[in-house]
Amino acid sequence: MSTQSEEPLDVERIRGEFPILERDVGDGQRVVYLDNAATSQTPDRVVDAMDDYYRETNSNVHRGIHHLSQEASLAYEEAHDRLAEFVGASGGREEMVFTKNTTEGLNLVAHGWGLRELDEGDEVVLTEMEHHSSLVTWQQIAKRTGADLKFIAVDDEGRLDMDHAQEIIGPDTEMVSVTHVSNTLGTVNPISDLADLAHEHGSYVFADGAQAVPHQSVDVEDLGVDFYAFSGHKMCGPTGIGGLYGKSHLLDAMEPFMYGGGMVRKVEFEETTWADVPEKFEAGTPPIAEGIALAEAADYLDDIGRERIDRHERDLVEYAMNRLGEFDDIEVYGPPAGERAGLVSFNLEGVHAHDLASIMNDHAVAIRPGDHCTQPLHDVLGTAASARASFYLYNTKAEVDALVEAIDDARQLFA
Ligand code: ALA
Repeated sequence: MSTQSEEPLDVERIRGEFPILERDVGDGQRVVYLDNAATSQTPDRVVDAMDDYYRETNSNVHRGIHHLSQEASLAYEEAHDRLAEFVGASGGREEMVFTKNTTEGLNLVAHGWGLRELDEGDEVVLTEMEHHSSLVTWQQIAKRTGADLKFIAVDDEGRLDMDHAQEIIGPDTEMVSVTHVSNTLGTVNPISDLADLAHEHGSYVFADGAQAVPHQSVDVEDLGVDFYAFSGHKMCGPTGIGGLYGKSHLLDAMEPFMYGGGMVRKVEFEETTWADVPEKFEAGTPPIAEGIALAEAADYLDDIGRERIDRHERDLVEYAMNRLGEFDDIEVYGPPAGERAGLVSFNLEGVHAHDLASIMNDHAVAIRPGDHCTQPLHDVLGTAASARASFYLYNTKAEVDALVEAIDDARQLFA
């Protein structure tokens, strides 16, 4: 488990565990990977966990009594317990559903809880900085149920306006769904305060942890949330796997989102009863190799220590903000360094974010341009797109310098 030592990360050693970081992406240039908010890279030991599973254990779960199936079932079930522990859920697998990703976690709750519980006049409160996975999902569920959506405003420095939150969370609020860390602004939202506020009014709280879980220690019980979702591929794990935490009594009461094999107790021609959580929500053959490898990714991050990873990234983002702040023609969005997680979105005056990213690509610097699945937030920011650099445990200050050099090249080209 976690050492959480005060020692800074040994980044050179860590980089050695990610061979892709040595990739020549053209003209002999080694990739500078600053697109971690989209997908993180995968260390050897997580790739090995997938590989070992296919070489030694591959079998379907829950359906066989033969040796391999039993072994696969046990490892897959224990992976649920491990991920529950990883986010501070004391109830183990009964509080941890494996999903495809954060988006599926949101859809599962919006359909399984929202379609049943929401009615005309009820309110779902989101924030202006929600990812489309949350915004579009609740918007469509609201249309189907007659519920209203409200949005907590974002202030000029990219923080949530908590006075506005106090104003709009009220007796009609049934769900407050908010991102823990903004994938565009890097803002770390006060989830516990929002949970207290929501619970005072009898509302539930869903936090989107896609940009938090990979980078900092998360304890869903300390945060006081009712639901919490995250993705494996942003936390050194495989694609196609994510987790949804839910309080046990809420998951028990919810309708399944998908139907099929593996999620039933008794099936008759007319009626069906459901298996216990998590199987109730995991219809069909699940992502077994991915689930087992996700538990390995959790071990990997805890062996290094998430507090150390968080400190490393905050240090990098502060350095990046200082470097970007040297130029008057760069506009940076979101809160000041010291208050933000390890990502920074910005624009270079007179250069579209896509052109900027393309020039960066010529320098082997991988960033993400566009709206980052937050179009309404970009409207609030007064721009259609931005360029985003997002950091992880293996990034270095030299890579931030490479980013700044590539921006300078774009400046010369478009001058
Ligand atoms: N949600 C991911 C991002 O922000 C894909 O890039």
